[in-house]
Amino acid sequence: MKVLILSFSSNQVNEDSFIPNKIGLTFSCVEECEKKLKGLGNEVEHICINRKNIKKCLACGKRGWGICLEEHLCIQKDDFNEIYKYMENFDAYVFITPVYFHEMSESAKTFFDRLKRCDAFNDNSKIKGKKIVCIACAGGSGTGTEETLKAFDTLNYFLGTKMYARIPVTKANFEKQREVIDDAMKLEDD
Ligand SMILES: Cc1cc2nc3c(=O)[nH]c(=O)nc-3n(C[C@H](O)[C@H](O)[C@H](O)COP(=O)(O)O)c2cc1C
Repeated sequence: MKVLILSFSSNQVNEDSFIPNKIGLTFSCVEECEKKLKGLGNEVEHICINRKNIKKCLACGKRGWGICLEEHLCIQKDDFNEIYKYMENFDAYVFITPVYFHEMSESAKTFFDRLKRCDAFNDNSKIKGKKIVCIACAGGSGTGTEETLKAFDTLNYFLGTKMYARIPVTKANFEKQREVIDDAMKLEDD
């Protein structure tokens, strides 16, 4: 199976991190997913959306719809259309976001705003019906993980994807949640 991981945090574990925190929880979850998926024989790719140029939706056009409604593409010239098209090549998706202000991160909201517009009413969508795993990475209390995962439920509804697992993670429970993450990476059929 080909699995695409999309992450939505600026914090990286690797040395060329562009901000100081090199042990981000989101990126730790990316690494865990990659390791498990590859171990199970899947082909895996990871795109960190924060490293891409994704502008906010302009809600352009008449009555709030631009070419996204009929052409299923965005009019803006940034990295969005390429990533949207690229998503077609995969069988399942893992979305991993930090929790900010009880919500998914800004880069996640911006990306999914545009994905919904292009894909929700796309009868030829190559995303619909595919499995998604959603992981919300929070700080101390974990407050806001439920709201974040609830927002992923809404996204799942509009994209017509198949919610396979929704996983709350905090710095404190990460070691325990590894097991839950690993289990979700099996992406088994019901
Ligand atoms: C702007 C901001 C808002 C945050 N809001 C919350 C929050 O509402 N609930 C929470 O549990 N943690 C919150 N946190 C903590 C982050 O969710 C936590 O540090 C998480 O590990 C960030 O992901 P990262 O390690 O990949 O950067 C917030 C952090 C930032 C920077």
